[in-house]
Amino acid sequence: MISLAQNLRQSPYASYAYSYPHKTAYRPLDVPVRLKDAWLEENKESLFLYVHVPFCEMRCGFCNLFTTANPNENLITAYLDALKRQAVEVRRALGGGVRFTRLAIGGGTPTFLDAAELETLFDIAENVFDCKVAHIPASCETSPPTADEPRLRVLRERGIDRISIGVQSFIEAEVCAVGRSQRTRIVEHSIARIRKLGFPVLNLDLMYGLPGQTVESWRASLQAALRFEPEEIYLYPLYVRPLTGMSRHPKEWDDIRLACYREGRALLLSAGYEQVSMRMFRSRSVAIREDAVYCCQDDGMVGLGCGARSYTRKLHYSSEYAVGVNGIHGIIESYNESSSFAVADYGFFLSPDEERRRFVIKSILRADGLELDSYRQRFGHSVLDDFPQLARLTSEGLASVESDTLKLSEAGLELSDAIGPWLYSTNVHELIKQYELH
Ligand SMILES: C[S@@+](CC[C@H](N)C(=O)[O-])C[C@H]1O[C@@H](n2cnc3c(N)ncnc32)[C@H](O)[C@@H]1O
Ligand code: SF4
Repeated sequence: MISLAQNLRQSPYASYAYSYPHKTAYRPLDVPVRLKDAWLEENKESLFLYVHVPFCEMRCGFCNLFTTANPNENLITAYLDALKRQAVEVRRALGGGVRFTRLAIGGGTPTFLDAAELETLFDIAENVFDCKVAHIPASCETSPPTADEPRLRVLRERGIDRISIGVQSFIEAEVCAVGRSQRTRIVEHSIARIRKLGFPVLNLDLMYGLPGQTVESWRASLQAALRFEPEEIYLYPLYVRPLTGMSRHPKEWDDIRLACYREGRALLLSAGYEQVSMRMFRSRSVAIREDAVYCCQDDGMVGLGCGARSYTRKLHYSSEYAVGVNGIHGIIESYNESSSFAVADYGFFLSPDEERRRFVIKSILRADGLELDSYRQRFGHSVLDDFPQLARLTSEGLASVESDTLKLSEAGLELSDAIGPWLYSTNVHELIKQYELH
C-alpha cells in the first residue's frame, strides 16, 4: 500500500491553502444575509480591514487574481465612488464597538491608482471607516513600474508601514517568458525608492518554477533580493492556473520547484531568516510589532471592494469571483453600479466541522504549528480525536508533537500545498471541482 507521504509527494503542488475554504467553493447563498445580522453576534474589537484594488498595468500570464489590466479612468473613478458607498453601508451594518487593528490594501496592484486616487482611498478608510491607519500595522502591495515617488509618499504619509512588491525574478528573460515585461533596472530603482522613504517592512515576492529558470538562476535572483536586506521574502512556487495566459500553452519545462524550494529555504535560513510558512520567510533582525500578530483564528475580516472577501466566524462572503477577462469586467461594472451593499448573497456557511477544519488548516501550515490546547479550549475536544488522520502525519515523519504543539517537520512543510488540500472536507473538494469544470 502506498504511504501518505508517497501519495502527497506525487502531487506536492495541489493547491495553495492561504484561506479555507477557497473562494471557488463560494456560491450564491440560498437566502441572502443582511450584513447587520451577519455581524450582530461577532466580537468587533479587533477587526482586519482589507481593501481590494482590482487593477494592474498588465495581466501577467501566470496570474489568476481578481484583477483587470489597464482599465480606463472612468472605471477607476466609478470604482472609488462605489467603494465609498460600500464603506458607508458596511460601516453602518457593523454597528457599535468596532475597532480596526490591521489594514491591508491588496490587489491587483493598489498603486495602479495615482497619488490623488490613493489619497481618496485612505480618506475612505479613515473618515468613513474610522480605521486609524497610522496607529496600526498597515500593509500595501505594489509593483515595480507603479512604485513611483508620489505614490509611495502618499502611502508613507498616510501610515503604511509594510510594502510588498512583486519582483518574481531578477532575470528579465524569466519574467518576460510569463507575459510580464519587466526591466530589472526598474525593479531595483523601485526597491531603492521604497528603502529611501523608510518603510519599516519591505517584502519581496519571488517565484520559482518559471519557464527557463534553473536552480542556479533562482539562486542568483535570491542573492539579488538579499542585497536589499528585505525584512520579509515570499517564495511562490509557480502555479499554472485555468484561464490564465500560461494555461493556453502546454507545459514545456522541467519541474524544478522542489529543488528551488530547498535551495531557497537553505539560502534564506543561512542568511538569518526564519521560516514562517512554506512561502514566507522573515528576517530574524526584525522586531515584530506586538500588535502585528493578527490572529487568523479569532479576528474577523471586513473586505471592501470588488473581489474582497469578508469573514465572520460562520459566514465567509464576497462579490462573485471570476478569472477570465469578461467575467471580471462584468463583475466590476455591476459593483460600480450597485446601490446596495447591505446584504451578502455570495459565500460559504461554515458548519461546526468546517470551522474546526479551518482552524487546523490555518495553524498547521505555519511553521509554529497547531497548539493542541488552543484547539481543546476552543472546541472542547482533542484535535487528534476530531481529525484522527493527523496521526498519519506524525507516524510518517511529516509532523511531530513538541511541547503540546503539532508541527510539520522539514519534510512536511515542503508538502504544505498537498497537506492543506488533503485536509479539505469532501464538500469543499466537490465545490472547487465543480467550479473548475464550469
Ligand atoms: C498581488 S500580486 C503582487 C503585487 C503586484 N500585483 C505585482 O505583481 O507586482 C501577488 C503575488 O502572488 C504571486 N502569484 C500570483 N499568481 C501566481 C501563480 N500563478 N503562481 C505563483 N505565484 C503567483 C506573485 O509572486 C505575486 O507577486
Ligand atoms: S501578478 Fe500582480 S501585476 Fe501581474 S496580473 Fe497579478 S496582480 Fe497584476
